[in-house]
Amino acid sequence: MKFIFAASPPSAPDAIVFAIGKDALERAELSLEQTDVVRTAAKAGRFEGKTGQIFQTFVKEGDAVIQIVLTGIGKGERKDCEAAGGAVIAKLMTSGVKQLAINGKGLAQDQLARLLFGAKLRSWRIDKYRTTMPENSKPTIEAITVLDTDMESAQVWQDLSAVADGVALTRELVSEPANVIYPESFVARCEELRDMGVEITVLGQEEMEKLGMGALLGVSQGSVRPPRMLAMRWDGTNGAQEKPLALVGKGVTFDTGGISLKPPLGMEDMKWDMGGAGAVAGTMKALAGRKAKAHVIGVCGLVENMPDGNAQRPGDVVTSMSGQTIEVINTDAEGRLVLCDALHWTQETFQPEVVINLATLTGAIIVSLGSEHAGCFSNDDGLSDNLLAAGTKAGDPLWRFPLSAAYDKQINSPIADMKNVGGKGAGSITAAQFLKRFIKDGVKWAHLDIAGMVWADKPGPVWDKGATGFGVRLLDQYVADNFEQ
Ligand code: BES
Ligand code: MN
Ligand code: ZN
Repeated sequence: MKFIFAASPPSAPDAIVFAIGKDALERAELSLEQTDVVRTAAKAGRFEGKTGQIFQTFVKEGDAVIQIVLTGIGKGERKDCEAAGGAVIAKLMTSGVKQLAINGKGLAQDQLARLLFGAKLRSWRIDKYRTTMPENSKPTIEAITVLDTDMESAQVWQDLSAVADGVALTRELVSEPANVIYPESFVARCEELRDMGVEITVLGQEEMEKLGMGALLGVSQGSVRPPRMLAMRWDGTNGAQEKPLALVGKGVTFDTGGISLKPPLGMEDMKWDMGGAGAVAGTMKALAGRKAKAHVIGVCGLVENMPDGNAQRPGDVVTSMSGQTIEVINTDAEGRLVLCDALHWTQETFQPEVVINLATLTGAIIVSLGSEHAGCFSNDDGLSDNLLAAGTKAGDPLWRFPLSAAYDKQINSPIADMKNVGGKGAGSITAAQFLKRFIKDGVKWAHLDIAGMVWADKPGPVWDKGATGFGVRLLDQYVADNFEQ
């Protein structure tokens, strides 16, 4: 599906879309002779212009019969417009419509750009592994002609289009099965970012051994897939921003649980246990794509958690790169083991001012928040407030959780500096306390537990079932509001 920008629709559009605000049917600038018919039909069909509401009818224009689609934008806010674009695609993607035109009349440039952004996001899908697909479930839209010649070069659309490309990379990485995406191939998929001006460094197993990343390597040792540490640097400030923002992602390309093996039911979901790393990669693509004026490092700790003859055992004690020792009580609490070395290495190597890590870290966060918010844990109120604000604005919502010494106590170990699981309650918080022990004094840090957000079992406004791309829009917004001002 591609976007074309033109003054008039293609010679034979199958459908033309109009965006309509709530209670604005009367004022709507339907540029058709048949406006009265469309209005009457829409009223009869109880179309009120509510956000995401769709109304379809047909009119005769000359010799042709074309479909008219009204999409509701409610109050016309940013999220309404995105949802309206998403709703159009959800409805028409496989409808048989090939040539779609969008008439942005009556919309401000930002509103139309948001509508197109929603459409672009909602059109992403992964069909590569389907060799048989019924005709009526194949996507049919070939091109969307936007009846606005200024939009193509408009900065707002250029930027949003780049963000949608970042989201697409995240969804791709998250959706791919674990026999296709493993540490080395994850890195290979990110190599394309070099062409956009992103500097890429990769650590292999031997380098990580030399650095003493015993916690990450302990997780990886039961797998035949070698681990990787991937670092991506984007500096759009020409060196002006000395201390970068660092984004660190959990990239467990498959989590069997290791020797603390997970039960079979639903284990296939653990192919998306690299969703944090996926969000980091997608964000780097978005930032580079829109040439963000910020200095950002994206780090992905990439391993596979498998049980084999060489796998680590419950009770093993490992030494992290920071020097702190960890008693591995449960080999399924592996994300924190990967992240602690990734976080320490990131701080040592890049001296960031702010560190934000993203991870599908705990099942407990899904018990707490379901799929409506990701959990946010932070040592800095300002950072937390800014992230929550960016999340609300961008449509990737966060909810803050507490941290305290009382929770921290739960991970003290009788034999090592700490153990990798806490007591019965507060599983998401004790996981966060574990990570906090690896954050240096003076570094502003937030941990986002996104376990409930990376995969959807039902479609949302701008995603289908499956990978949502959670985190990219959030981080892009956070960077725009806090580093590019
Ligand atoms: N990747 C899982 C967390 C997870 C579970 C994400 C379900 C999405 C859905 C993580 O590695 C894990 O296994 N965590 C354990 C921690 C426990 C052993 C302390 C969990 O949440 O059960
Ligand atoms: Mn696990
Ligand atoms: Zn995991």
